[in-house]
Amino acid sequence: MESQYAKKHMAWLNLFTGMHYGARYLKNRWREFLPAENFEYVEKMSKLLFASVDETCTNKRALDLGCCVGGTTFNLAEKFDEVIGIDCCKGFIEFCEELKKNGKATIYSCEEGDLDGEMMAEIPDSIDRSRCSFQLGDVQALPSDIGTFGCVVISNVIGRLENPIKVLRNLPGLLDDYGICVIASPHDPLEDFTPKENWLGGFLDKDGQKMKASQTIKDILSEKMELIQSVEIPFVLQYQAREIGLTISEVQVWLKSPKIS
Ligand SMILES: C[S@@+](CC[C@H](N)C(=O)[O-])C[C@H]1O[C@@H](n2cnc3c(N)ncnc32)[C@H](O)[C@@H]1O
Repeated sequence: MESQYAKKHMAWLNLFTGMHYGARYLKNRWREFLPAENFEYVEKMSKLLFASVDETCTNKRALDLGCCVGGTTFNLAEKFDEVIGIDCCKGFIEFCEELKKNGKATIYSCEEGDLDGEMMAEIPDSIDRSRCSFQLGDVQALPSDIGTFGCVVISNVIGRLENPIKVLRNLPGLLDDYGICVIASPHDPLEDFTPKENWLGGFLDKDGQKMKASQTIKDILSEKMELIQSVEIPFVLQYQAREIGLTISEVQVWLKSPKIS
């Protein structure tokens, strides 16, 4: 019998493959109730990244921290010569490898109870998949020889880490001058992932002031980088055919400016 872990893992895989690759199926189905753009998180994120790249930066390597099922990692290969996606979930990395090898993979959505719906994840031919590599790893303990990048993305991951501050403090060191860093988060802290003493926000400080993650991220990163844009991008997770959840991430775009360091 399938273990609870395997079941949970499959449920997560289905949710995120639907989010990263299922837009063309899901957005038409629910367009009467939810504008199609809510289903285009990965596309909107890639557009924002490409628009934010400072051409002064000669480093053509990109890093996707907590890459999950790889939607953004593959898209980054349109603009960057080498893209590394890192995730701590073996099943997600295996899915990314399958997609890298074959260019397509069957994905599933929970239709109703035990019934699944089938969709196809496809990477467009225009994307050179050989530029992407995937590593199983912890973004809180990156390999010491990982090098530097022109672009680092950490999307919807910071609120799922045991020690988010450690990761934030490491970000500027991963970038070359004029490199960009994009941090997206719905700022939804959960004690299941982050011990309360490590939360970035969502509590009152000792003086009774409201602490918010958005500001904490700015306080930490502004020591070494320049905030060039802050926008909101929605995403949809489909739990069952008629049960979908809308989340809105705040997306901060930071530039490693040589003026600040
Ligand atoms: C909510 S998903 C977001 C995925 C994707 N970046 C996006 O925005 O759609 C969070 C991802 O972070 C990964 N993750 C969580 N903690 C991690 C860690 N310490 N190291 C590496 N990956 C981690 C999870 O496995 C999952 O794939």
